[in-house]
Amino acid sequence: MKLAVIEGDGIGREVIPAALEVLDTFGLDIEKVSLELGYARWERTGAAMTEEDLDLIKECDAVLFGAITTVPDPNYKSILLAIRKGLDLYANVRPIKPLPGIAGVTGRSDFDFVIVRENTEGLYSGIEELHEDAAYTRRVITRRGSERIAAYACELAKKRDNRLTIVHKSNVIKADKLFLDVCRETAEDYGVESSDMLVDAMAYSLMKQPEKYDVVVTTNLYGDILSDMSGALVGSLGLLPSANIGEKYAFFEPVHGSAPDIAGKGIANPLAAILCVKMLLEWLGEKKASLVDEAVSHVLQNKIITPDLGGTSGTADVGHAVAEYLRSH
Ligand code: IPM
Ligand code: MG
Repeated sequence: MKLAVIEGDGIGREVIPAALEVLDTFGLDIEKVSLELGYARWERTGAAMTEEDLDLIKECDAVLFGAITTVPDPNYKSILLAIRKGLDLYANVRPIKPLPGIAGVTGRSDFDFVIVRENTEGLYSGIEELHEDAAYTRRVITRRGSERIAAYACELAKKRDNRLTIVHKSNVIKADKLFLDVCRETAEDYGVESSDMLVDAMAYSLMKQPEKYDVVVTTNLYGDILSDMSGALVGSLGLLPSANIGEKYAFFEPVHGSAPDIAGKGIANPLAAILCVKMLLEWLGEKKASLVDEAVSHVLQNKIITPDLGGTSGTADVGHAVAEYLRSH
């Protein structure tokens, strides 16, 4: 299998090497293809990514991605969005699960849910009209787009607690009625128990009763917002991995960004990137993927943690410790 590795900018360049060290301990037959994309590349060449880069990525099976700093050019289009579109990565999967010994804002650790975010349409359609006194962005909801994300979420629910919560705002936004109806029908076809929530009520409920949820399916922007909010539930955005999945390709990225304020100091928390490796291993069907969770618990219990979690270890120390645990188990 061929893996495109895009460290990107800022702390992406620190957390991805740590994640690769962890991946290497599995001894899999993976050919890595490194690509330099992002802000630094733009400064050097005037282009953050080219069509040729996208073609190179398409020759790979999966992508491990760090983070990219937004380029200060009014015509800049997000590389992340271009890759999601280019590879048709329609499902953005964000597991929200507490890590041992790390308290989130609510102090609770009895929840375990997954946000399945539609990743190709909604308000991210890219269909926009900008005038001086008015600007329009078209929110696209299609039956096909809703069906395939609902099907993905139902498949996942079947492997978990068989419960699906459909998050929408159909009391105000008519397009959401189509999303809701299609998700409901799909859940019924799959034999998955479904309920639904308005997105505002869901934001409140997730903070109050996160243990109530299993698989949460929603449209693009709601999923974006609810997943950052859920970072507070687990204690830090720096702990959340995500997978962008399509029919053919998969793309793994930490939910956090390039964090220019701490970049270059070697103190960024690599655990989100390391948990991305776990998601990659699961996608590959590697049976030992859950060992990564064990290794992460081990370093947390032994307080081999970066300053954001109150520790004094560096990015590489945490990577070495996780890798060392895996080498010896
Ligand atoms: C995310 C990010 C991206 C998004 C941005 C960087 C385009 O916030 O992955 O959640 O909005 O999807
Ligand atoms: Mg986001």
